[in-house]
Amino acid sequence: MAITLAFDVYGTLIDTHGVIIALEKLIGDKAPEFSRTWREKQLEYSFRRGLMQNYENFAVCTSNALDYTSSYYKVPLSQKDKADLLGEYKVLPAFDDVVEGLARARKAGFRMFAFSNGSAEAVEMLLKHAGIRDYFIGVVSVDEMKSFKPNPGVYCHFLRRAGALGADAWLVSSNPFDVIGAVSSGMRAAWVKRSPDAVFDPWGIEPTVTLRSLLTLAEQIEDECS
Ligand code: 2OP
Repeated sequence: MAITLAFDVYGTLIDTHGVIIALEKLIGDKAPEFSRTWREKQLEYSFRRGLMQNYENFAVCTSNALDYTSSYYKVPLSQKDKADLLGEYKVLPAFDDVVEGLARARKAGFRMFAFSNGSAEAVEMLLKHAGIRDYFIGVVSVDEMKSFKPNPGVYCHFLRRAGALGADAWLVSSNPFDVIGAVSSGMRAAWVKRSPDAVFDPWGIEPTVTLRSLLTLAEQIEDECS
């Protein structure tokens, strides 16, 4: 059976810190720290909404997290500033290694999907804007399950939607919580560790392979499966 790849989107294909340039114009030097807190809160809100079974889509988590972060750093944002920042979030850039990494993976014959906490509509827009939509057979969103990663149900949903079995399907993600979620749900997983300082959660559940960039994805998966 051909190997199926589920590419995480935010933080793996698409750089959520791409918003720093727009933030710098509004808040100067605090922008990198603000962006980090915004992303951490966005994920925390998705985890909490999943646990509470109080689903609102990922764009709501992003918007609520922006409000929290602006209060936390005491940087008031006008309605227009906020709309502009959320607009930037819809057209975030891809990481530098993405186009070449996807091209190599496609050449290797993998079945490729985008698999995200984001709504299908938001993910379609991001991938099109980054010029990478055509690498994927389809987009699978957790929105179809009204829950978030790492609920095991959403990985199971991915497998059903992609027509794949866990043993033949790999999650490709920079997010350790996502890698652990996929491995615990019976998938294989490639952790994309672009920064040497990135730390993996010490849960005793390890990625199947660790990559320094997407450039070696195809080669490392082929080695692991041979
Ligand atoms: C995504 O699902 C986890 O934010 C990440 O795209």
